[in-house]
Amino acid sequence: MDLVQDYADAVETMLDHLEHGTTDQAPDVMRVPARSYTDPDQWSREMDRIFMRLPLMLALSIELPNPGDYKAMDVMGKPVLITRTKDGKAHAMLNVCTHRGAHVVNDGKGHCSRFSCIYHGWTFNNDGSLLGVADRAKFGDIDKVAHGLTKLPCEEVAGMIFVVLTPGHPIDVRGFLGGMVAELEHCDFANWHFHGAKEIFGANWKVAYDGYLEGYHFAAAHANTVATRSPSNVMTFEAFGPHLRIGFPQHKLPQLRQVPRDDWAAHENDGYDFVRTLFPNVSIFVAPEMCQIAQLLPGPTPDKNRTILNYLSRKPPATDQEQVDLDTITQFFRDVVNDEDYLLGLSVQRGLESGALKHVVFGRNEPGNQYFHRWIDYYLSDDPALMPPRFG
Ligand code: FES
Ligand SMILES: [Fe+2]
Repeated sequence: MDLVQDYADAVETMLDHLEHGTTDQAPDVMRVPARSYTDPDQWSREMDRIFMRLPLMLALSIELPNPGDYKAMDVMGKPVLITRTKDGKAHAMLNVCTHRGAHVVNDGKGHCSRFSCIYHGWTFNNDGSLLGVADRAKFGDIDKVAHGLTKLPCEEVAGMIFVVLTPGHPIDVRGFLGGMVAELEHCDFANWHFHGAKEIFGANWKVAYDGYLEGYHFAAAHANTVATRSPSNVMTFEAFGPHLRIGFPQHKLPQLRQVPRDDWAAHENDGYDFVRTLFPNVSIFVAPEMCQIAQLLPGPTPDKNRTILNYLSRKPPATDQEQVDLDTITQFFRDVVNDEDYLLGLSVQRGLESGALKHVVFGRNEPGNQYFHRWIDYYLSDDPALMPPRFG
């Protein structure tokens, strides 16, 4: 795929939409049952069939740049340990000691090539193999090979580490991402600087995710922030399987008419923006000064999600002032998402739980949301006939 031409085509469409007061549209409006956001049975099926089976982006490569680096985290109640071994390879395993179940390392990031369990001190290599049983002579004989940490399928692609939460499940991240791989490689995340992460808490994961998939809400919900940069309700959509690249023109986009078409691709964030989403739970916004990668983690109950907002900068801050500037802009982004999207999402959740609505309705101008919900239906049914048709 020629991204330069592809992006220029998207810009041409955005310009056209601005000039004609239009936006990309789905063929019809679409209704989704309101209980889809509240029903515990549906939520359990989403966890089993989507979150336990699909590759989830759990870490950025630059969070674990060197052999010996690790990241331990809770993922929807599962303790996950991601490591990088001395051959440079990323691994994932459950952070659960095979003696009696303690974490072998506390949540967080660090550097060590072996882990000593926090309970009785069994030691494990960072590839998960059991190295030593504390006071083995008194403990008795066990098969060390059979007592390694439980491995999780893991692949590193385009600066991101993907993990399937079910041991032994097949993994094919490139196959799953399809054309989105080229988008991610274009973003070049392996060569950014990891600035830090902030956690926020919100409503049902789909209520939260819906908010990343349309710009229909900019004028009403983001009047003094996003809407000052980008007009409401003007979007383009490109789909790569269930993953999306959503284009948002900025008010100043018509100025790009003065720039050669072949240069438009280099003007991302300078005239227009893209939000790239990785089904089921990642939303990426790249800006020149920083990048925000949101990871939505459902739970602990159907009405809640925890979102990790990861912030990257092109280069490490070189001065105290650059550090302050980066802290300020990332806090601003966090506040917009938390105060303007997630707080609103909590009220949406209460509305949906009130029983007032049988359905929510997605307009023709919200094709990204329609597509997202069709893919959820597809994964919950496992019926190939429900696979959404390509659009974009
Ligand atoms: S639980 Fe890990 S050493 Fe006992
Ligand atoms: Fe928003």
